[in-house]
Amino acid sequence: MSDSTQPSVLDKAQDAASKLAATVADKLNISGSGDVQAKEGLPVLYIDEKAGSDSTGTGAELSPFATPLAAYQSIHPSPESDANPTGVVTFMVRKPDSVERNEYVELTASAKKKLVKGIELWRKKEAKLAQEGERLAREKKEQEERDAKRREEAKGVVLVDDSSKGEAKRTKLFSVPELVGSRVRLQGWVHRLRPQKTNYFIVLRDGTAFVQCILTGDCIRTIDALDLTVESTIELTGMVNKVKEGQTAPGGVEITVDWWKTVGLAAGGEDAFEGRLRADTDPSIRADLRHLELRGETATSVMRVRAALLRAFRERFHARRVTEVTPPCMVQTSVEGGSTLFEFDYYGAKAYLTQSSQLYLETALPSLGDVYCIQESFRAEKSLTRRHLSEYTHLEAELVFIEFKDLLDHIEGMICEVVDMLLADPVSSEIIKTLNPDFVPPQRPFMRLDYRDAIAYLNEHNITKEDGSQHVIGDDIAEAAERKMTDQINRPIMLIHFPKLLKSFYMKALDSAPDFTESVDVLVPGVGEVVGGSMRISDLQELLAGYKREGIPMEPYYWFTDQRKYGTTEHGGYGLGVERFLAWLLARYTVRECSLYPRWMGRATP
Ligand code: 4AD
Repeated sequence: MSDSTQPSVLDKAQDAASKLAATVADKLNISGSGDVQAKEGLPVLYIDEKAGSDSTGTGAELSPFATPLAAYQSIHPSPESDANPTGVVTFMVRKPDSVERNEYVELTASAKKKLVKGIELWRKKEAKLAQEGERLAREKKEQEERDAKRREEAKGVVLVDDSSKGEAKRTKLFSVPELVGSRVRLQGWVHRLRPQKTNYFIVLRDGTAFVQCILTGDCIRTIDALDLTVESTIELTGMVNKVKEGQTAPGGVEITVDWWKTVGLAAGGEDAFEGRLRADTDPSIRADLRHLELRGETATSVMRVRAALLRAFRERFHARRVTEVTPPCMVQTSVEGGSTLFEFDYYGAKAYLTQSSQLYLETALPSLGDVYCIQESFRAEKSLTRRHLSEYTHLEAELVFIEFKDLLDHIEGMICEVVDMLLADPVSSEIIKTLNPDFVPPQRPFMRLDYRDAIAYLNEHNITKEDGSQHVIGDDIAEAAERKMTDQINRPIMLIHFPKLLKSFYMKALDSAPDFTESVDVLVPGVGEVVGGSMRISDLQELLAGYKREGIPMEPYYWFTDQRKYGTTEHGGYGLGVERFLAWLLARYTVRECSLYPRWMGRATP
């Protein structure tokens, strides 16, 4: 036996054996009985069936094994002794029922029999493992030889980008289904790779679509083919064919490739793309790898619908003659209170990242009429909820010469028309169907629920405040309660007429109840608030009183106040959180999935 652990175990055992004569009598308290004697010269190993351990024991009296088999194995015995293990070791065993009496006794005849059986089984298992190991090593070696040979052969296989096969039209993947029967030239990323003996199936991705490509013959015998990995970029030429009856592929077509090459080989082995993001990858690692996650089908789909959504809103605004403007992000005034402002140093002065472009939109009304913007807003939210971001895309509109009812009708109309447009678009509707199969387009008119009736609803339905108490008029309806109510009602709700004290300085009071406002939140199932809007104070004195009530210094707002000085009008507007709207439409658990690179408390990378 060449195992380096053997001498130390044996040494210990022999050491123990030599001490045994002296200690056995004392320890076992059988002095003078003469019926237990360590056999001269044999190592002694201790086994305590209750307190010993086969994994950490050494066989010394203070560190016994749990079984005789482990004790025997520990001396790395030669097979000759298997039939008579007590010929090479003296096994001293303490039974569970003798712990109290601290008695070690020599292995009994029946236990020895059992041990011999155990040794037999162990040897068989060892032999099988050895055989298996040899087989695996042999197979590995054969595979390596085959690979080396294939590599050698592959060096001689050169594909020719041959124009004599006909012109290969360079095209993006989205138009491939319209080119059946033509030869095309494509570039993209290897989204999926299924190498088989005679074919490689590749799903190619270029950001516009996916296309299945089939490589055969010399195309799978090149060095590039041997090395190809998922997420590599490749270029290829080939014929566009319809897939055979009964088979499916994106767009119903596949490319029969006649030439291809790797453009950028993606990392393989331990660093391979597939290994970096798995279903069970920790969320914080997922967030670190957002740049890779964006290549996945779900993230791509969400981003695609996001783009379609913004396009649809722009289209509907254009149809209503609402003009797009781009207000500044760096500001020196707050819109929604100081607690969520991100402050920064602006050439020695205090400035903030904008919370809302509303005030600037209001100032554009006299020149452009109705206006909107799609702009990033920033909120230093201290909460890590699934619907709060620190930076989000804020779609805001401001409409002039309107009444509160017009504002509600406008918001409702925009939402319904945009949803209709997305459902009419084949790409978006397919994604909505896949990600949110239960989606039901909202029915007009939306339910309009007065804040005071909502408080009554919460109490009637036993939806309490966080502290378990009932809601009273004047309470802010917390996120959890709001969501419970919306999920129960299970359709979009326009929650209107919030108390003045809960809302911002600029909101117009209700004529009939001056403590309440002409304000609206649109709530949708699964998410809660997606839109917040209101009519604005048009009267100069009332606005000045609003600043005062909220403790806001009026000087920095001079440009906003001036709107009431130079031709005031009734007007109102709203802000829609694009990520929240998407989370509702696509049934995403959190708004974080709906932003390209989401920012939330503690996260501003990548
Ligand atoms: O209700 P909010 O705070 O309203 C305003 O900012 C108004 N000045 C808008 C206006 O009238 N022009 O925000 C409007 C919407 C919310 O309904 C919500 O959808 C979204 O913006 N929102 C957020 N989305 C993600 N993360 C956050 N931290 C958000 N805060 C608000």
